[in-house]
Amino acid sequence: MTYQTIRVRKLTPRIGAQISGVDLAKPLDDRTFREIKSALLENQVIFFRDQDITLDQHKDFGRRFGELHVHLAAPSPEGHPEILRIHADEKSKRVAGEGWHSDVSCDAEPPMGSILRLHKVPSCGGDTLFSSMYAAYDALSPQMKEMLYGLTAVHSGEHVYRGRYEYAAGSREDTKKAFPVSEHPMIRTHPETGRQALFVNSGFTTHIKDLPKRESEALLQFLYAHCARPEFQCRFQWDVGSIAFWDNRCTQHHAMWDYFPEVRSGFRVTIAGDRPFFRANTPEKSAMAA
Ligand code: SIN
Repeated sequence: MTYQTIRVRKLTPRIGAQISGVDLAKPLDDRTFREIKSALLENQVIFFRDQDITLDQHKDFGRRFGELHVHLAAPSPEGHPEILRIHADEKSKRVAGEGWHSDVSCDAEPPMGSILRLHKVPSCGGDTLFSSMYAAYDALSPQMKEMLYGLTAVHSGEHVYRGRYEYAAGSREDTKKAFPVSEHPMIRTHPETGRQALFVNSGFTTHIKDLPKRESEALLQFLYAHCARPEFQCRFQWDVGSIAFWDNRCTQHHAMWDYFPEVRSGFRVTIAGDRPFFRANTPEKSAMAA
């Protein structure tokens, strides 16, 4: 694809690109919007530097790509329920996203993508790693693909969210709260590119529905290790004002918490998605046609 309004520099052949030549504080014209969307579909995660944007501009950028998702449990800045606060400091016992996962895959319709901007970064460390689930799927043997086509995995929010967040009146009391549980195909067809992606993650996936427990555990352990192979990955080093925008339908990410007790802080806008499906033998559409 030839870009006319933005510059796109690939980070690796398989995943990740840095975008320059655009100021996200300004409304996007249609051509620039289409090119950013194409760059996302082509590279699965895109990065911007030095973006000085307000929370409203952050939401406006997200809304160009779809309706915004409101997280069921996590903290938001006052008056902005669609924004998720990502924060770690010397008091943190854990941080959001510190294992391989795709966002909120326990939802029946997991998010299409997330846009994270950091406004405070540690002196070093705090990178985010991204892995391509297209590359993970492509690298499987035909026999393994054939087996996975028919399988469904269960994704749960219970072990992720229970007791973790403060709810109404600042309390962690959530005994009456039910967290989402959903079943999704293990191979997911991307609704815009038509490419197949592996769709299980160690954050939310609890088991494979159709298999005995021991087989389910062994297969999932193999797939989690496979998804985390370095050749499917890129790694992003943050500065103040950097933005990462990932396609949650075909990537996983891992936020590296190697900077304790330093502070790392940002806001994430999440874009609503649709129900995952598997369609055999879809002709792969070009990213630009989407
Ligand atoms: C997340 O959204 O999972 C956190 C990503 C990060 O902090 O880099």
